[in-house]
Amino acid sequence: MLHGSRHWEALYTSCRRAASSLAPRRSLLTLAIESSCDDTCVAILSKCRTSSDPQHVKTRLLLNEKVTAKNTGKGGILPTEALESHQANLSKLLENALPSLPDANDALPHAKRIWLRDGAPKQKPDFISVTRGPGMSANLGVGLATAKGLATAWQIPIVGVHHMQAHALTPRLVSAMAKGRDPEKGSLGPMFPFLTLLVSGGHTMLLYSKGLVDHKILATATDTAVGDELDKCGRLILPQELRQSTPDTAFGKYLSRYAFKDPEEFESWDVPQTRIEEINKPMNEFGWRLTTPMAQNRDLAFSFSGIASQIKRMILAREKENRPMEDRERILLARSVMGTAFEHLGSRTIIALEKLRAEGVEIPALVVSGGVAANDFLRYYLRRLLDARSFERMRLVFPPIELCTDNAAMIGWAGMEMFEAGYTTDFGCAPVKKWTMDSQGPDGGILGIGGWLTN
Ligand code: KG4
Ligand code: ZN
Repeated sequence: MLHGSRHWEALYTSCRRAASSLAPRRSLLTLAIESSCDDTCVAILSKCRTSSDPQHVKTRLLLNEKVTAKNTGKGGILPTEALESHQANLSKLLENALPSLPDANDALPHAKRIWLRDGAPKQKPDFISVTRGPGMSANLGVGLATAKGLATAWQIPIVGVHHMQAHALTPRLVSAMAKGRDPEKGSLGPMFPFLTLLVSGGHTMLLYSKGLVDHKILATATDTAVGDELDKCGRLILPQELRQSTPDTAFGKYLSRYAFKDPEEFESWDVPQTRIEEINKPMNEFGWRLTTPMAQNRDLAFSFSGIASQIKRMILAREKENRPMEDRERILLARSVMGTAFEHLGSRTIIALEKLRAEGVEIPALVVSGGVAANDFLRYYLRRLLDARSFERMRLVFPPIELCTDNAAMIGWAGMEMFEAGYTTDFGCAPVKKWTMDSQGPDGGILGIGGWLTN
């Protein structure tokens, strides 16, 4: 029990803490770092309230830079190469980023400042946002150690961000930036709850987000991720001369350009109108068809590895028969691979939506994020599928491509949302290789790991 002035002091401190976490700040500035995989990324994000209208918050991305490891490995990302790339590039990216911090002369007189090498006064970030997990530990460690060093020197907190939470929150960053440019642009969206289909080279996940840290994983990949599988298929299908001319080994993205010369050609692909059509596929003119994974059941899970093995078998058989594939058939194969992968993604999403609808939950928006969300055919496919299966009112949200793939802007935004909700991370924290997002799961999700500090 505290007495007298000590009691009041404690009460005052706790009230001040509560007020500081609840009252919106006039401005917030974060420097963000992402290094979980093969992209080394740095961003600077600011939020400020205009004095004329305190309700009007301007969110501005002052810098968003990345360097991707060369990935000379045959099967895609080489962990050692990615690590070396972070070590070689992170500090240089940061050095080049600091001049993009806002000029301290434009800030209020009491704003904290730092000085660059050339003497230029800059506003000091309020905190550093850094990816803490999930991902490759050594790679995460480069970003985390750098963030701790900077934060110690600048005497500011860090927020250790969950990489997948950041992907899921990206559309909220996009709408906040749009609203910053034009206050008439509606509210911050999508509002909770919403669904996210995270589709990247390392993840395939359908997520039900009910709040900032309240997420439920509805379905996840049991084997390969969709992006990885499409990259494998691209390697097998793309004509050799095309494969040799691509700047990287993410063949999935070149597969889509090869399959459809023009988005108008998407119309020629039959999006199944019913479950029955999904299950009973006719043979095509070349005498083959691809089987959609898990077509016979309604399990909520993703499995993609069967797609590349079907292609491998087919191509090997053709080589044996000495019957090379002509362009027309190869293009149909490329279309079928994407059609099959997207049908699987779409069918599990529809099953999840139907289950939620049966429980009385109507979800207004489906966010599609991660590298594969850059695929135009996926965008077309999902819209057609939702319309055909009585979800025509559901809004499909695709963040811009540069924010769909790994980037630090999304880490900065997730950091801001967490910071404003009162969370920072202890400097003694370590990278988290495996970190589930499911708040109902045994690990407790985003808040389930140690190291969070709350004010
Ligand atoms: O999110 P991301 O940049 O990195 C992680 O995996 O975390 O996703 C990379 C994946 C690769 O598999 C790449 O082939 C795929 O995204 N991708 C695309 C497209 N752009 C990137 N897949 C299909 N179409 C695209 N336009
Ligand atoms: Zn990612």
